[in-house]
Amino acid sequence: MIKGSAPLPVVVATLLSVACASGQVAPATTGGAPIVIGAVLPLTGYGAVFGASALNGMRLAVDEANAAGGALGRPLELRARDDKGDATEGATAYRASIEIDGAIAIAGAVMSKISLAGAPICQARGVPMVSPTSTNPRVTEVGDYIFRTAFIDPFQGTMAATFALGTLGARTAACVFARGNDYAEGVAETFRAAFTEGGGAIAAFESHEMGAYDFEDILVPIIETAPDLIFIADYYNDAASVAAQARELGYRGRFVGIDGWDSPELVRMAGNALEGSFFINHWHTEAASPESLRFADAYRFRYGENPDLIDVCGYESARVIIEGLRSAGTVSGPALRDAIAATELVLPTGRFAFDAARNPVKSAAVIIIRNGRFEWFATVDPPRK
Ligand code: PHE
Repeated sequence: MIKGSAPLPVVVATLLSVACASGQVAPATTGGAPIVIGAVLPLTGYGAVFGASALNGMRLAVDEANAAGGALGRPLELRARDDKGDATEGATAYRASIEIDGAIAIAGAVMSKISLAGAPICQARGVPMVSPTSTNPRVTEVGDYIFRTAFIDPFQGTMAATFALGTLGARTAACVFARGNDYAEGVAETFRAAFTEGGGAIAAFESHEMGAYDFEDILVPIIETAPDLIFIADYYNDAASVAAQARELGYRGRFVGIDGWDSPELVRMAGNALEGSFFINHWHTEAASPESLRFADAYRFRYGENPDLIDVCGYESARVIIEGLRSAGTVSGPALRDAIAATELVLPTGRFAFDAARNPVKSAAVIIIRNGRFEWFATVDPPRK
């Protein structure tokens, strides 16, 4: 028995005979033992919706690669471990992925607080890690084996503030965010700094427990200050609860949010409360580049539904690992790290490359919630260096 009864890995790869995107069965051109790519994701618990999406995207990338001959003449196998939305569980999952599953690189985690727990483990073992969606800047600062395919919070926080001041003409804003969540705290702070610097006034800066039910104690004083907008730096479930309760308490202004809002559950949970609200996101199905359209088609063919943004982020993180593997020509950690750092690819969200700090240089989308649907509103490019 494995010590500590480690959770069984969820084996998600199809190996030699995979159905490729075109629906045909690919020839088994690869042989030898599979190369294991690890995935650390919230498959249960807080954020399980995110984990399911990211896994779909990663699986699609690995299956496409296997249909095209795998890498280094070997098939690829994606093995996922459940971080349960918890940093301690996440650390265990990272260790198990490397030490038990034999992962040569890890795609994950989704949430910054879990990537922050996993990054030192990958760095110490010389195993490259590529987070699909963790936006907190400290994640990649852990070391040279740590990458991400998502933009970082200073970018989205600043963009949200610029958008609120410029496009929405807001002058006063309140910030609400989950305490103890590196992501929520970080992006709220960036928003506050950028909004103030741009000439706006922050009327309130209030935090709550993650997964709380009652926000009245912070919302009542916020609503008394009648801010032009409330910036909710939270994942979709808390964001929906905050918005719904603010409306019940009589708030009439706008809400503005961040990438963690992206889930079909958001509108279902919030009802009408978020109608007309905006949030920053990594991608939108209406983004019309050929690679974006190809990805969306392949995804729909495979899963019978539209991809969401975490699907695309998961797909991109796995693509970067696979391309790194192919150009490194070996599974050795240092060579793989260097090859990943040098990746240049056209991905669904656009032309992709890493900067010197292993963060991508990429654009973001502003989404509006209209008639209960997420509609593309604008694309914002990163600042030129
Ligand atoms: N950006 C979030 C984090 O760093 C994760 C996330 C991204 C969750 C997008 C949902 C959607 O924790």
